[in-house]
Amino acid sequence: MANLFLFITRSFVKLSSFSILLLLLLSSSSFTATEAYDPLDPNGNITIKWDIMSWTPDGYLAVVTLYNFQQYRHIQAPGWTLGWKWAKKEVIWSMMGAQTTEQGDCSRFKGNIPHCCKKDPTVVDLLPGTPYNQQIANCCKGGVLNSWVQDPATAASSFQVSVGQAGTTNKTVRVPRNFTLKAPGPGYTCGPAKIVKPSRFVTSDKRRVTQALMTWNVTCTYSQFLAQKAPSCCVSLSSFYNDTIVPCPQCACGCQNTSQPGSCIDPKAPHLASVVPSTGKNSYTPLVQCTSHMCPVRIHWHVKLNYKEYWRVKITITNFNYNMNYTQWNLVVQHPNFDNLTQIFSFNYKSLTPYTAINDTAMLWGVKFYNDLLSQAGPLGNVQSELLFRKDKATFTFEKGWAFPRRIYFNGDNCVMPPPDAYPWLPNASSQQLISILSLSMVLLAAIAFLFGYA
Ligand SMILES: *[C@@H]1O[C@H](CO)[C@@H](O)[C@H](O)[C@H]1NC(C)=O
Ligand SMILES: *[C@@H]1O[C@H](CO)[C@@H](O)[C@H](O)[C@H]1NC(C)=O
Ligand SMILES: *[C@@H]1O[C@H](CO)[C@@H](O)[C@H](O)[C@H]1NC(C)=O
Ligand SMILES: *[C@@H]1O[C@H](CO)[C@@H](O)[C@H](O)[C@H]1NC(C)=O
Ligand SMILES: *[C@@H]1O[C@H](CO)[C@@H](O)[C@H](O)[C@H]1NC(C)=O
Ligand SMILES: *[C@@H]1O[C@H](CO)[C@@H](O)[C@H](O)[C@H]1NC(C)=O
Ligand SMILES: *[C@@H]1O[C@H](CO)[C@@H](O)[C@H](O)[C@H]1NC(C)=O
Ligand SMILES: *[C@@H]1O[C@H](CO)[C@@H](O)[C@H](O)[C@H]1NC(C)=O
Ligand SMILES: *[C@@H]1O[C@H](CO)[C@@H](O)[C@H](O)[C@H]1NC(C)=O
Repeated sequence: MANLFLFITRSFVKLSSFSILLLLLLSSSSFTATEAYDPLDPNGNITIKWDIMSWTPDGYLAVVTLYNFQQYRHIQAPGWTLGWKWAKKEVIWSMMGAQTTEQGDCSRFKGNIPHCCKKDPTVVDLLPGTPYNQQIANCCKGGVLNSWVQDPATAASSFQVSVGQAGTTNKTVRVPRNFTLKAPGPGYTCGPAKIVKPSRFVTSDKRRVTQALMTWNVTCTYSQFLAQKAPSCCVSLSSFYNDTIVPCPQCACGCQNTSQPGSCIDPKAPHLASVVPSTGKNSYTPLVQCTSHMCPVRIHWHVKLNYKEYWRVKITITNFNYNMNYTQWNLVVQHPNFDNLTQIFSFNYKSLTPYTAINDTAMLWGVKFYNDLLSQAGPLGNVQSELLFRKDKATFTFEKGWAFPRRIYFNGDNCVMPPPDAYPWLPNASSQQLISILSLSMVLLAAIAFLFGYA
């Protein structure tokens, strides 16, 4: 009888942890499948707008603007790359504020040679410090686009293009096709160009409004699934009430390859980071410190203090990537107590879901010129902040991992969390949990006993 009891208890414990795992698996897989739609930023997109400003003898002059309407996903150096396919035999006579990466075959031209004759030009932004006579407003930021929440003023990027051998009226002009946007890697999908109401421009003294001769829009959306990246960040946890530090899951972003020395950097010999031979890939592939998780970035959430009315959390972001200074980094954190965040130290904060019933998602980012740069791996490669939450008596608890975040994104990428059953326990939570399992098992046992006629 005692053995049966133990057996049922054990299977019940197994079953419950199994169902937690299953639930986790299900929720994470459904998350991947619907990733093009981001519930935290349902309208997030990059819109590319072409405004035809004037007709020329053989085409038109247009201003092209990229608007990053994503709340928390930005494009950092080396910046965006924009491509498209011309509908007819168009060429680019000249550009301001950007350039094509290749000129292509312009051998059929005599005298005046176009800037680009390719059927599918690829355009990149110019670098800061470009001579003034090659600049236009909003150009020349090396392709960097801030996120809409962090700074709408630097979330747009423009260039001017003079197109030849094209239509010269709004009836004969053909919109380009097959737009591609790289950041600089894959992840964005662009829809077709749609002719929209011409843009209107207000002069700086606000006394006159002009408008484009013709305008079309292209919308590009991001999908982490398309980007096909290995996870790029992970989460570790600790608390004042339990000595256990729950580390990032092993191999969260990849496993160490012992048969390939140099695939990661030994932190005791960081100077090797500069002598590791280039792998032939571009220099932006992560070169990480050797850790069990192999993630370029780790976010640590420490439940630090418990006051009567408040509780306090410390967040530390650590860079393990020797190949990247993260500029304008951001975090998105989901925790039910964000509806009563009282104070945040040394990070900026904005609620991402301020008007919904579940006001639990916050965006955090660095303070300009103070900690908006997360330096490459090494002694300076971390930033930290503390958060003070007001307790809501009805929901607040240290039990069952409630004090830990539900989900964290770093720069828009979902970070790998430890499994819920590994979270630090309250000193006596384990026994409480066991008791509830035991009592449940008793009921189960009684039911079974009844069924089999032992009663
Ligand atoms: C793109 O984002 C803007 C700003 O959030 C929004 O108004 C627009 O509807 C979005 N476009 C699409 C196609 O989702
Ligand atoms: C083209 O221009 C004519 C006027 O010249 C205007 O009525 C028409 O709406 C324009 N079409 C488009 C697609 O902009
Ligand atoms: C380019 O766009 C056209 C429609 O505009 C589409 O039919 C075609 O499949 C696209 N080609 C590629 C390679 O995406
Ligand atoms: C086209 O894009 C511009 C700039 O993002 C936006 O203001 C405008 O509403 C868009 N038009 C349509 C019809 O989506
Ligand atoms: C480890 O590296 C070797 C040599 O580059 C490679 O052949 C092997 O596939 C790698 N193993 C794993 C698990 O990545
Ligand atoms: C990061 O910034 C530091 C200081 O500006 C610089 O020395 C280092 O080369 C940068 N690292 C990378 C990978 O760009
Ligand atoms: C959501 O939370 C923020 C931060 O605590 C707060 O300022 C805002 O008023 C909350 N909104 C609602 C509707 O409760
Ligand atoms: C936030 O805290 C206040 C004061 O304790 C409480 O009245 C309110 O219900 C809390 N808000 C939420 C959404 O729990
Ligand atoms: C701390 O939490 C771990 C689970 O992460 C648990 O195994 C351990 O028993 C807890 N320690 C105490 C003192 O409760």
